[in-house]
Amino acid sequence: MARTDKLSESVILEVVRKTFPDHLILGEEGGLIGDALSEYLWCIDPLDGTTNFAHGYPSFSVSIGVLFRGKPAASTVVEFCGGPMCWSTRTVSASSGGGAYCNGQKIHVSKTDKVEQSLLVTGFGYEHDDAWVTNINLFKEYTDISRGVRRLGSAAADMSHVALGITEAYWEYRLKPWDMAAGVLIVEEAGGMVSRMDGGEFTVFDRSVLVSNGVVHDQLLDRIGPATEDLKKKGIDFSLWFKPDKYPTDF
Ligand code: IPD
Ligand code: CA
Ligand code: CA
Repeated sequence: MARTDKLSESVILEVVRKTFPDHLILGEEGGLIGDALSEYLWCIDPLDGTTNFAHGYPSFSVSIGVLFRGKPAASTVVEFCGGPMCWSTRTVSASSGGGAYCNGQKIHVSKTDKVEQSLLVTGFGYEHDDAWVTNINLFKEYTDISRGVRRLGSAAADMSHVALGITEAYWEYRLKPWDMAAGVLIVEEAGGMVSRMDGGEFTVFDRSVLVSNGVVHDQLLDRIGPATEDLKKKGIDFSLWFKPDKYPTDF
């Protein structure tokens, strides 16, 4: 497994370093490499959904997002879908101001405007801490009031699904920049909305994300927001993490 993650990252790095030798790169496997003062930061998850990959369970993905001064500028997520005997891929990509595409076709979030008619998705990190418990409770609450809450296991694919209009929203605590940099731009460019789980303005260095079709965003924040504020009151740290020290940002 780890071998596949590393192999995948090395193939991606070879291309990025050759094409953009003066950019900074943050890879999940290899950490930071390149020019620490570059305005460009590549965030690479060479295999998102490792557990799914190990079991041959759809889906998993490769996620690559590049930031310019902290803001997502271009991204792509290649999702491996289908499963044994019917694997295929779809490539979802976006550029800032240029829209979002899947296999070359423009994509758009759904128009569903009620949580009761929404299919929702969340994720649970490896650390079973207070935020994890809070999210188990959110999972229960939203299972009661929506069409269902799914837990697929690849954050980047989960966000692509919101952009494709298959699902209405996705949220998770404790993701890392390489999990989110590509997906958040894809959702925004597909007409959706991105915030932190307390409703605050999102950066890829934050520790929570809520992406949605935009229409149901505030309805979701009605419960997700206060639950997140309670965690903050308990002293759970949601401040920026994984931000390279010298990396210049516009926020
Ligand atoms: C994980 C997946 C999963 C999410 C976890 C991530 P990995 O990434 O995105 O869906 O729930 O929080 O860590 O470890 O498979 O690259
Ligand atoms: Ca990941
Ligand atoms: Ca990974």
